[in-house]
Amino acid sequence: MKKNIKVVSIVGTRPQFIKLAPVCRAVRKFPALKHIIVHTGQHYDYAMSKIFFDELMLPRPDYHLEAGSARYQRQTALMISRIERALIKEQPDWVLVYGDTDSTLAGAIAAAKKCIPVAHVEAGLRSFNTKMPEEVNRRLTDTFSSLLLCPTVTAVRNLRREGMSCVLNDGTLRLAGGHRKRYPIVANVGDIMYDAYLFSIKIAQSSSDILSALTLNERGYYLATIHRAENADSKERLGTIIRALAALAADKPVIFPVHLRTRKMIRSLSIPRRFIRALRCIDPVGYFDMLMLEKNAGVILTDSGGVQKEAFFARVPCVTLRDETEWGETVKAGWNVLAGVDEKRIRSIARKAHRGRGTVDFGDGRTSQKILRFIEKL
Ligand code: UD1
Ligand code: UDP
Repeated sequence: MKKNIKVVSIVGTRPQFIKLAPVCRAVRKFPALKHIIVHTGQHYDYAMSKIFFDELMLPRPDYHLEAGSARYQRQTALMISRIERALIKEQPDWVLVYGDTDSTLAGAIAAAKKCIPVAHVEAGLRSFNTKMPEEVNRRLTDTFSSLLLCPTVTAVRNLRREGMSCVLNDGTLRLAGGHRKRYPIVANVGDIMYDAYLFSIKIAQSSSDILSALTLNERGYYLATIHRAENADSKERLGTIIRALAALAADKPVIFPVHLRTRKMIRSLSIPRRFIRALRCIDPVGYFDMLMLEKNAGVILTDSGGVQKEAFFARVPCVTLRDETEWGETVKAGWNVLAGVDEKRIRSIARKAHRGRGTVDFGDGRTSQKILRFIEKL
């Protein structure tokens, strides 16, 4: 009799709930897979967590670990120990971790210590800036993973350069009978956020009324998001970005859904009120509203990884408020420009931003199925 395969997905932050959605939909087509969801509780406010479970009709997490906010050492340690308890109880065959957050790393460590194979979704990304917490998280997670599920060819190349040897480039499994599996296996399965985007943009177009609620016209506004620690936690960098956005608001409205980290830092770093008042600051929005805001924006300014990609999916020019990006293909294709954090440069790049000419291969929107097929066969 065929054995059931138990897979535990570990998620905890906004982009991970969005990445989980295609997996939850695809898992219905794999009757041999039993899928358990562990929510670490790294993000916990309604607008950062439950709204995505409600909108995307995700199953209730089987475990909610309520790790909450704390300094990263304490928070990660707490997550590791609570994830370990869940893994001991569930005894899964695979643990799926997503992206590069502290929840990702905690999941990978807890599983690796229990000798449970880890599959890393969005493996192989590199910004080559090890001062970013995300770069540390993704490098360590890749080290512990048996299945490295890359979103792009560049990610596969990064891993190959680091000596990961068993590479399957096309996302299919070609392990002939009797052939010994070698781990880690590296595969280009495409980008799971592209699956999420393709599925949700249609729903967003018919259900979101955010444009009329905010009285916005197509291409008649800038859309901005900021939350990266290097920007949000520095008075100088955050102040510079906000001043640049306030100057752009003289041309057209700047819609700014404010991440809760950034909201707290704007207050605690005493960013001058007159610049903030020039922007249309709103609470973080749900995924469908965000997709509509992105699709209709004139230009998107962001330090988010996911938003850079979605700008490309929507074919809207993007200005990245960072010094480097792990999504360099979008820059090469001409859709994304790295502005760093320099007020004049941000203003001038945003005003001149135009559509790119090139394209980027983020897969065919069936990444989640490829991931589950791997897990089922391995
Ligand atoms: C985290 C990830 C980052 C990811 C982002 C997605 C790490 C190191 N960083 O950054 O890679 O891009 O999530 O959004 O894992 N807060 C709330 N309520 C919430 C969540 C956060 O008030 O529901 C506030 C708290 O003050 C908290 C701060 O935001 O201390 C930062 O949250 P945290 O999860 O540590 O980092 P993010 O900036 O959200
Ligand atoms: N997002 C959202 N509402 C918002 C801001 C972002 O739904 O107010 C979505 C966005 O569309 C993308 C994801 O959140 O799918 C990106 O998450 P975030 O920027 O927090 O993290 P990152 O991608 O940088 O890790």
